[in-house]
Amino acid sequence: MTADRFTGKHALVTGAGSGIGEAVARKLHAEGADVVLADVRAEPVQAIAGELEDRATPVQLDVRDEEAVRELVRDLDVLANVAGIGSSTTAPDTPLDVWENVFSVNARGTFLCCKHAIPGMVERGGGSIVNMGSVAGLIGLHNRAAYCASKGAVIALTRALAVDHVGDGVRVNAVCPGTVDSPWVRRLVEEVGESLDALRARQPMGRLGTPDEIADAVAYLASDDAAFVTGSAFVIDGGLTAA
Ligand SMILES: NC(=O)c1ccc[n+]([C@@H]2O[C@H](COP(=O)([O-])OP(=O)(O)OC[C@H]3O[C@@H](n4cnc5c(N)ncnc54)[C@H](O)[C@@H]3O)[C@@H](O)[C@H]2O)c1
Repeated sequence: MTADRFTGKHALVTGAGSGIGEAVARKLHAEGADVVLADVRAEPVQAIAGELEDRATPVQLDVRDEEAVRELVRDLDVLANVAGIGSSTTAPDTPLDVWENVFSVNARGTFLCCKHAIPGMVERGGGSIVNMGSVAGLIGLHNRAAYCASKGAVIALTRALAVDHVGDGVRVNAVCPGTVDSPWVRRLVEEVGESLDALRARQPMGRLGTPDEIADAVAYLASDDAAFVTGSAFVIDGGLTAA
C-alpha cells in the first residue's frame, strides 16, 4: 500500500475523537495529509492531535450546526463524515426526539458537511468525500429503527451527490461496516445490555471488525487509487449481509 497518498492534501474527519473516526484520522495523517480532527467532544481530539503533533488540528464541531460546518469545510480535498450516533429501539418505542436527533447527527450532519465542502472542492478542481453508512442502511437490524433509516438516508444521499458532482471531479462514496469493535459497541454492551458474544455470533466470520479495517477502506476510497469509484456503498462486514 502506498504510504503517502495524501501528501499535500487537506482532510477533515468528523467524529475523530473515538473509534472509527479516530482510526480514519490517524490513517490519513500517517499517509501525509494535513488533518482537521473534528468532534463534538473537544478533549479527545485535542489529545489525539497532540500525539500526532504536525499536520493535525483539533476542532470542536457539532455537525448539526450549519454555521460552524460552513466555516470549517470550505478548503478540503478530502472529507470523511464519520460522526454518528445510534438508537436501540423499535419504531413504536422510539420517542420522536430520539428519531430527530439520530437524523440530525447522521443524516443532517452528513448533508451539511457535504453541502458546504463541495463548492470548495469544485473550485480546487475536485475532491473526495467518504460518508459513513452501515449495513443498517442496507438491511433491517433488530431494535434500531431510527438508526437504520438514518443510514439508509446517508447511502441515498451519497448516490445523489455522486451523480450530481461527477462532472466536477468530486467523488462521493460510502462505507457500510458491519459491527466494529469500537467504544460505541462497548457502550452498547454496557448500557443496553447487548452481548458481545451475540454480536460476534451474528458475524459469519465469528468476529467483529476493527476500526483500522474500516479506516483502510475509507482511505482507499478517499485516495486517487479509487479514481474510478463514485456512488458506491462499500460493504465491509465480514460476510454479514452475504449470509
Ligand atoms: N461501531 C460499529 O459497529 C459501526 C458499524 C457501522 C457503522 N458505524 C458508524 O461509524 C461511525 C463511528 O462509529 P464508532 O463506532 O466509531 O462510534 P464512537 O461512538 O466510538 O465514535 C463516534 C464519534 O462521533 C462523535 N459525535 C457524535 N455526535 C457528534 C456530533 N453531533 N458532531 C460531531 N461529532 C459527533 C462522538 O463524540 C464520537 O467521538 C458512526 O457513524 C457509526 O454509525 C459504526
